[in-house]
Amino acid sequence: MTDRYAVIGNPVAHSKSPQIHAAFAQASGQDMSYERLLAPLGEFDAAVDAFARAGGRGLNVTVPFKLDAFAIASAHSARAGAAGAVNTLARRGEGWFGDNTDGAGVVRDLTVNLGVEIAGRDVLVLGAGGATRGILDPLLAQRPRSLVVSNRTPEKAVELARRFAADGPIAAVAADALAGRRFDMVINSTSSSLAAGAEAPWPWPGTVFAPGALAYDLVYADAPTRFMRWATASGAVRAVDGMGMLIEQAAESFLLWRGIRPDTAPVFALLRPGAAR
Ligand code: ATR
Repeated sequence: MTDRYAVIGNPVAHSKSPQIHAAFAQASGQDMSYERLLAPLGEFDAAVDAFARAGGRGLNVTVPFKLDAFAIASAHSARAGAAGAVNTLARRGEGWFGDNTDGAGVVRDLTVNLGVEIAGRDVLVLGAGGATRGILDPLLAQRPRSLVVSNRTPEKAVELARRFAADGPIAAVAADALAGRRFDMVINSTSSSLAAGAEAPWPWPGTVFAPGALAYDLVYADAPTRFMRWATASGAVRAVDGMGMLIEQAAESFLLWRGIRPDTAPVFALLRPGAAR
Protein backbone atom coordinates (compact mmCIF):
# COMPACT_ATOMS: atom_id res chain seq x y z
CA MET A 1 0.00 0.00 0.00
CA THR A 2 1.22 3.50 -0.81
CA ASP A 3 2.34 5.36 2.34
CA ARG A 4 0.60 8.68 2.90
CA TYR A 5 2.27 11.93 3.88
CA ALA A 6 1.09 15.53 3.90
CA VAL A 7 1.87 19.10 4.81
CA ILE A 8 -0.63 20.56 7.27
CA GLY A 9 -1.12 24.29 7.76
CA ASN A 10 -3.42 27.27 7.39
CA PRO A 11 -3.00 28.58 4.78
CA VAL A 12 -1.34 25.73 2.91
CA ALA A 13 -2.39 26.21 -0.71
CA HIS A 14 0.92 27.79 -1.75
CA SER A 15 3.18 25.27 -0.01
CA LYS A 16 5.90 23.88 -2.24
CA SER A 17 6.35 20.81 -0.04
CA PRO A 18 4.19 18.48 -2.23
CA GLN A 19 6.34 19.28 -5.25
CA ILE A 20 9.56 18.82 -3.28
CA HIS A 21 8.57 15.48 -1.73
CA ALA A 22 7.16 14.16 -5.00
CA ALA A 23 10.55 14.84 -6.59
CA PHE A 24 12.40 13.17 -3.68
CA ALA A 25 10.09 10.12 -3.85
CA GLN A 26 10.49 9.74 -7.57
CA ALA A 27 14.27 10.09 -7.51
CA SER A 28 14.64 7.58 -4.67
CA GLY A 29 11.97 5.14 -5.87
CA GLN A 30 9.76 5.43 -2.78
CA ASP A 31 6.12 4.34 -2.96
CA MET A 32 4.48 7.27 -1.20
CA SER A 33 1.92 10.01 -1.73
CA TYR A 34 2.16 13.57 -0.40
CA GLU A 35 -0.77 15.96 -0.19
CA ARG A 36 -1.83 19.31 1.28
CA LEU A 37 -4.01 19.32 4.39
CA LEU A 38 -5.80 22.56 5.28
CA ALA A 39 -6.73 22.43 8.96
CA PRO A 40 -9.22 24.97 10.30
CA LEU A 41 -7.77 27.07 13.14
CA GLY A 42 -8.40 25.29 16.42
CA GLU A 43 -8.90 21.93 14.71
CA PHE A 44 -5.32 20.78 14.30
CA ASP A 45 -5.63 17.73 16.59
CA ALA A 46 -8.82 16.52 14.91
CA ALA A 47 -7.25 16.86 11.46
CA VAL A 48 -4.12 14.98 12.52
CA ASP A 49 -6.16 12.19 14.16
CA ALA A 50 -8.27 11.80 11.03
CA PHE A 51 -5.13 11.65 8.90
CA ALA A 52 -3.68 8.92 11.16
CA ARG A 53 -6.92 6.89 10.94
CA ALA A 54 -6.73 7.16 7.15
CA GLY A 55 -3.26 5.59 7.19
CA GLY A 56 -1.13 8.75 7.36
CA ARG A 57 2.54 8.01 8.14
CA GLY A 58 3.99 11.48 8.43
CA LEU A 59 3.29 15.21 8.36
CA ASN A 60 5.18 18.40 7.73
CA VAL A 61 3.72 21.12 9.91
CA THR A 62 3.69 24.77 8.94
CA VAL A 63 2.21 28.05 10.17
CA PRO A 64 0.47 28.33 12.62
CA PHE A 65 0.58 24.80 14.02
CA LYS A 66 4.19 24.10 15.07
CA LEU A 67 3.37 24.45 18.77
CA ASP A 68 0.24 22.28 18.42
CA ALA A 69 2.41 19.68 16.70
CA PHE A 70 4.83 19.77 19.62
CA ALA A 71 1.90 19.19 21.98
CA ILE A 72 0.40 16.29 20.04
CA ALA A 73 3.70 14.35 19.81
CA SER A 74 4.17 11.70 22.49
CA ALA A 75 7.97 11.71 22.01
CA HIS A 76 10.38 14.33 20.65
CA SER A 77 13.86 14.57 19.19
CA ALA A 78 16.37 16.58 21.22
CA ARG A 79 16.34 19.33 18.60
CA ALA A 80 12.54 19.58 18.73
CA GLY A 81 12.82 19.81 22.50
CA ALA A 82 15.33 22.68 22.24
CA ALA A 83 13.16 24.48 19.68
CA GLY A 84 9.95 23.87 21.64
CA ALA A 85 8.27 23.42 18.26
CA VAL A 86 7.72 20.59 15.78
CA ASN A 87 7.75 20.83 11.99
CA THR A 88 7.83 17.09 11.29
CA LEU A 89 5.62 14.34 12.69
CA ALA A 90 6.33 10.66 12.09
CA ARG A 91 3.85 7.93 13.02
CA ARG A 92 5.35 5.55 15.60
CA GLY A 93 2.97 2.81 16.75
CA GLU A 94 -0.17 4.49 18.05
CA GLY A 95 1.45 7.89 18.53
CA TRP A 96 3.45 10.62 16.83
CA PHE A 97 7.18 11.30 17.08
CA GLY A 98 7.93 15.03 16.80
CA ASP A 99 11.08 16.40 15.19
CA ASN A 100 12.23 19.84 14.07
CA THR A 101 14.30 19.92 10.88
CA ASP A 102 14.28 23.70 10.30
CA GLY A 103 17.61 24.39 12.01
CA ALA A 104 19.35 21.48 10.31
CA GLY A 105 17.93 22.75 7.03
CA VAL A 106 19.36 26.24 7.34
CA VAL A 107 22.74 24.98 8.58
CA ARG A 108 23.00 22.51 5.71
CA ASP A 109 22.04 25.13 3.15
CA LEU A 110 24.67 27.51 4.52
CA THR A 111 27.52 25.07 4.98
CA VAL A 112 26.97 22.53 2.18
CA ASN A 113 25.09 24.36 -0.60
CA LEU A 114 26.49 27.85 -0.11
CA GLY A 115 29.87 26.68 1.17
CA VAL A 116 29.87 29.15 4.05
CA GLU A 117 31.84 28.38 7.18
CA ILE A 118 29.99 29.19 10.42
CA ALA A 119 32.79 27.98 12.69
CA GLY A 120 34.82 30.89 14.04
CA ARG A 121 32.52 33.50 12.50
CA ASP A 122 30.43 36.26 14.03
CA VAL A 123 26.75 35.61 13.38
CA LEU A 124 23.81 37.96 13.91
CA VAL A 125 20.25 36.61 14.08
CA LEU A 126 17.43 39.14 13.75
CA GLY A 127 14.20 38.21 15.51
CA ALA A 128 13.39 36.23 18.62
CA GLY A 129 10.21 34.33 17.77
CA GLY A 130 9.53 30.67 17.06
CA ALA A 131 11.68 30.59 13.93
CA THR A 132 14.69 31.88 15.86
CA ARG A 133 14.21 29.32 18.64
CA GLY A 134 14.40 26.56 16.02
CA ILE A 135 17.77 27.60 14.58
CA LEU A 136 19.84 28.70 17.60
CA ASP A 137 21.04 25.27 18.76
CA PRO A 138 21.98 24.01 15.28
CA LEU A 139 23.87 27.28 14.65
CA LEU A 140 25.68 27.07 18.00
CA ALA A 141 26.62 23.45 17.24
CA GLN A 142 28.68 24.82 14.30
CA ARG A 143 30.86 26.72 16.82
CA PRO A 144 30.56 30.33 15.69
CA ARG A 145 32.90 32.78 17.43
CA SER A 146 29.85 34.70 18.58
CA LEU A 147 26.12 34.53 18.02
CA VAL A 148 24.15 37.70 18.71
CA VAL A 149 20.35 37.68 18.83
CA SER A 150 18.69 41.04 18.28
CA ASN A 151 14.98 41.70 18.40
CA ARG A 152 12.69 44.67 17.91
CA THR A 153 11.34 43.88 21.37
CA PRO A 154 14.69 43.41 23.20
CA GLU A 155 13.39 41.44 26.20
CA LYS A 156 12.50 38.47 24.00
CA ALA A 157 16.08 38.25 22.73
CA VAL A 158 17.42 38.47 26.28
CA GLU A 159 15.15 35.61 27.26
CA LEU A 160 16.32 33.44 24.34
CA ALA A 161 20.00 34.17 24.98
CA ARG A 162 19.49 33.11 28.58
CA ARG A 163 17.74 29.93 27.51
CA PHE A 164 20.52 28.84 25.14
CA ALA A 165 23.48 30.20 27.16
CA ALA A 166 24.72 26.74 28.10
CA ASP A 167 25.04 25.74 24.43
CA GLY A 168 27.56 28.32 23.20
CA PRO A 169 28.69 31.97 22.99
CA ILE A 170 25.28 33.60 22.62
CA ALA A 171 24.29 37.14 23.64
CA ALA A 172 21.34 39.45 23.16
CA VAL A 173 22.05 42.97 21.88
CA ALA A 174 19.39 45.62 21.30
CA ALA A 175 19.14 47.05 17.77
CA ASP A 176 20.37 50.52 18.73
CA ALA A 177 23.36 49.01 20.57
CA LEU A 178 24.61 47.31 17.40
CA ALA A 179 26.20 50.45 15.96
CA GLY A 180 29.90 49.67 15.57
CA ARG A 181 29.42 45.89 15.57
CA ARG A 182 30.15 43.91 12.38
CA PHE A 183 29.06 40.37 11.47
CA ASP A 184 30.13 37.83 8.85
CA MET A 185 26.62 36.50 8.55
CA VAL A 186 23.25 38.14 9.22
CA ILE A 187 20.22 35.86 9.32
CA ASN A 188 16.73 37.33 9.11
CA SER A 189 14.48 35.25 11.30
CA THR A 190 11.80 37.90 11.72
CA SER A 191 8.48 37.66 9.97
CA SER A 192 9.11 41.13 8.51
CA SER A 193 8.96 39.89 4.92
CA LEU A 194 5.41 38.68 5.48
CA ALA A 195 2.43 40.96 5.12
CA ALA A 196 1.99 41.91 8.78
CA GLY A 197 5.54 43.28 9.24
CA ALA A 198 6.21 44.52 5.74
CA GLU A 199 5.60 48.22 6.32
CA ALA A 200 6.83 48.56 9.90
CA PRO A 201 10.02 50.55 10.62
CA TRP A 202 13.24 48.53 10.38
CA PRO A 203 15.16 48.85 13.66
CA TRP A 204 18.67 47.67 12.68
CA PRO A 205 21.59 49.81 11.41
CA GLY A 206 23.01 48.95 7.99
CA THR A 207 26.52 48.97 9.48
CA VAL A 208 26.20 45.39 10.81
CA PHE A 209 27.67 43.85 7.65
CA ALA A 210 31.40 43.06 7.80
CA PRO A 211 33.30 43.13 4.49
CA GLY A 212 32.27 40.02 2.54
CA ALA A 213 29.23 39.39 4.73
CA LEU A 214 26.42 37.04 3.76
CA ALA A 215 22.76 37.96 4.33
CA TYR A 216 20.34 35.06 4.65
CA ASP A 217 16.55 35.36 4.85
CA LEU A 218 14.72 32.33 6.23
CA VAL A 219 11.74 33.34 4.12
CA TYR A 220 11.68 32.63 0.40
CA ALA A 221 10.03 34.70 -2.28
CA ASP A 222 10.10 35.13 -6.04
CA ALA A 223 11.61 38.60 -5.74
CA PRO A 224 14.29 39.76 -3.24
CA THR A 225 12.71 40.31 0.17
CA ARG A 226 12.78 43.62 2.04
CA PHE A 227 15.60 42.25 4.21
CA MET A 228 17.61 41.16 1.16
CA ARG A 229 17.23 44.57 -0.49
CA TRP A 230 18.30 46.30 2.73
CA ALA A 231 21.29 43.95 3.08
CA THR A 232 22.46 44.52 -0.47
CA ALA A 233 22.07 48.29 -0.15
CA SER A 234 24.04 48.11 3.13
CA GLY A 235 27.04 46.29 1.64
CA ALA A 236 26.37 42.56 2.03
CA VAL A 237 28.18 40.82 -0.85
CA ARG A 238 25.56 38.15 -1.08
CA ALA A 239 21.89 38.06 -0.09
CA VAL A 240 19.95 34.82 -0.42
CA ASP A 241 16.45 33.74 0.50
CA GLY A 242 15.30 30.59 2.29
CA MET A 243 14.47 28.41 -0.71
CA GLY A 244 17.52 26.26 0.03
CA MET A 245 16.48 25.95 3.66
CA LEU A 246 12.98 24.91 2.62
CA ILE A 247 14.37 22.12 0.45
CA GLU A 248 16.95 20.99 3.02
CA GLN A 249 14.45 20.84 5.90
CA ALA A 250 12.23 18.75 3.61
CA ALA A 251 15.15 16.41 2.86
CA GLU A 252 15.77 16.02 6.57
CA SER A 253 12.08 15.14 7.12
CA PHE A 254 12.25 12.66 4.25
CA LEU A 255 15.29 11.07 5.90
CA LEU A 256 13.37 10.68 9.16
CA TRP A 257 10.39 9.09 7.41
CA ARG A 258 12.08 6.92 4.79
CA GLY A 259 15.65 6.39 6.03
CA ILE A 260 17.06 7.89 2.83
CA ARG A 261 18.68 11.32 2.38
CA PRO A 262 17.54 12.55 -1.02
CA ASP A 263 19.74 14.59 -3.33
CA THR A 264 18.53 18.20 -3.08
CA ALA A 265 20.37 19.83 -6.00
CA PRO A 266 17.92 18.61 -8.69
CA VAL A 267 14.98 19.93 -6.63
CA PHE A 268 16.60 23.34 -6.28
CA ALA A 269 17.06 23.41 -10.05
CA LEU A 270 13.43 22.37 -10.50
CA LEU A 271 12.07 25.16 -8.27
CA ARG A 272 14.59 27.81 -9.36
CA PRO A 273 15.39 27.02 -12.96
CA GLY A 274 18.49 28.83 -14.14
CA ALA A 275 19.53 30.04 -10.68
CA ALA A 276 23.13 29.39 -9.70
CA ARG A 277 23.98 28.00 -6.29
P1 ATR B 1 7.93 33.13 13.85
O1 ATR B 1 7.35 31.83 14.29
O2 ATR B 1 7.93 33.34 12.37
O3 ATR B 1 9.28 33.39 14.44
P2 ATR B 1 6.81 34.91 15.77
O4 ATR B 1 7.10 33.94 16.84
O5 ATR B 1 5.51 35.63 15.75
O6 ATR B 1 6.91 34.24 14.36
O7 ATR B 1 8.00 35.98 15.75
C1 ATR B 1 8.05 37.00 14.82
C2 ATR B 1 9.39 37.74 14.97
O8 ATR B 1 9.51 38.70 13.91
C3 ATR B 1 9.51 38.52 16.25
O9 ATR B 1 10.86 38.50 16.66
C4 ATR B 1 9.08 39.93 15.84
O10 ATR B 1 9.59 40.96 16.64
P3 ATR B 1 8.82 41.39 18.01
O11 ATR B 1 9.15 40.33 19.01
O12 ATR B 1 9.37 42.71 18.35
O13 ATR B 1 7.34 41.42 17.65
C5 ATR B 1 9.72 39.99 14.49
N1 ATR B 1 9.14 40.99 13.56
C6 ATR B 1 7.98 40.92 12.88
N2 ATR B 1 7.83 41.98 12.06
C7 ATR B 1 8.93 42.76 12.24
C8 ATR B 1 9.39 44.00 11.68
N3 ATR B 1 8.69 44.65 10.76
N4 ATR B 1 10.57 44.49 12.10
C9 ATR B 1 11.29 43.84 13.01
N5 ATR B 1 10.94 42.67 13.57
C10 ATR B 1 9.77 42.13 13.20
